[in-house]
Amino acid sequence: MEAAALIAVIDNSVKNDSGLIPILEDVQNNFGYILEEAVQIISKKINRPASEIYGVATFYKSFSLTPRGKHLITVCVGTACHVRGGSKIVDALSRELKIDPGETTEDLNYSLEAVNCLGCCAIGPVIVVDDEYYGEMTTQKALNLVSKLKKEDEND
Ligand code: FES
Repeated sequence: MEAAALIAVIDNSVKNDSGLIPILEDVQNNFGYILEEAVQIISKKINRPASEIYGVATFYKSFSLTPRGKHLITVCVGTACHVRGGSKIVDALSRELKIDPGETTEDLNYSLEAVNCLGCCAIGPVIVVDDEYYGEMTTQKALNLVSKLKKEDEND
């Protein structure tokens, strides 16, 4: 069933002649990550080696080769954010979620990532939760955001 859905998404993307990155975006958006089968199917459809597709999928941070959680929390640990406490925020979230950066919780609810610069250093430390940017973060504010997400999920 999932294979048929995967082929349909890729076929549609290929038909639109959208190029490799938009095809990968479509797969990521529909399935939450770039499945191994997707790489093989894309490779055949656009006649490019699987190694090239893996290369692109691993180069861009927005793609993941493993399943991502329902919520993606990205913490900036670039220099400007680090000196204002970005690394402490990652450590606190790691402890709270019981995962290291780059990992996803077993219940697939949360993924945590640490990145080097989100391009908005002036408002650092910065974290991004489900595509929403939060500046001037503190450990406590970050933990509050996670507890708010948990409460929202409980009420869903
Ligand atoms: S170092 Fe964090 S946004 Fe640039």
